[in-house]
Amino acid sequence: MSEMKATNITWHEGHVTREERGKLLKQQGCTLWFTGLSGSGKSTIAFTLEHALVQRGRLAYVLDGDNIRHGLNKNLGFSAADREENIRRIGEVAKLFADCSVIAMTSFISPYRKDRDLVRSLHDAGKMPFIEVYVNTPIATCEQRDPKGLYKKARAGELKNFTGIDDPYEEPLKPELTIDATNTSPQEATIQLMQYLEKRGLISG
Ligand code: ADX
Repeated sequence: MSEMKATNITWHEGHVTREERGKLLKQQGCTLWFTGLSGSGKSTIAFTLEHALVQRGRLAYVLDGDNIRHGLNKNLGFSAADREENIRRIGEVAKLFADCSVIAMTSFISPYRKDRDLVRSLHDAGKMPFIEVYVNTPIATCEQRDPKGLYKKARAGELKNFTGIDDPYEEPLKPELTIDATNTSPQEATIQLMQYLEKRGLISG
């Protein structure tokens, strides 16, 4: 799905640099890529961090899997090919946000390592920080929480290709951060992430 179909297209360089946009917002853009099982707490942590950053005067924005699948990606399902396209598109969107100097956060299961690595390489090529955050909550905890009742459906055979049940999840090999949301509250995770962003010099003051 990602092959180039258009021909005769030329890149048009703008007049405003990323640095100028960064100065305007007094911050540097980056992408925080949350990955983990459904119900692991990715979105709760991302939205808590977004809130905390905005309260500190930083522009942050969450691109959430379930939300994006209501709009931009509503034509995609859960086959491996559709998940790949889901991640490819949102990787490109996150990169655009980071280029705008926004602290972009994505909350997608993103179960395939090669799809996540592709997004990382896109960011590396564009010299934008990419921070992979593995929300490593054990499936037993996710299933016990089951906030949307989807594990129950998957166990009953009413929902096919559900990640962790009858569809794969490939753990990150070298995530920048790992959070187990069983014993870490969204507030504690937010503090850890803030400290990480400070340490990397991505937020200050
Ligand atoms: S991804 O695998 O392509 O990254 P994404 O994060 O966009 O998935 O969407 C996952 C969300 O869709 C889950 O949190 C859940 O609410 C819902 N969902 C519906 N069907 C499935 C399925 N078969 N596997 C995983 N999640 C599903």
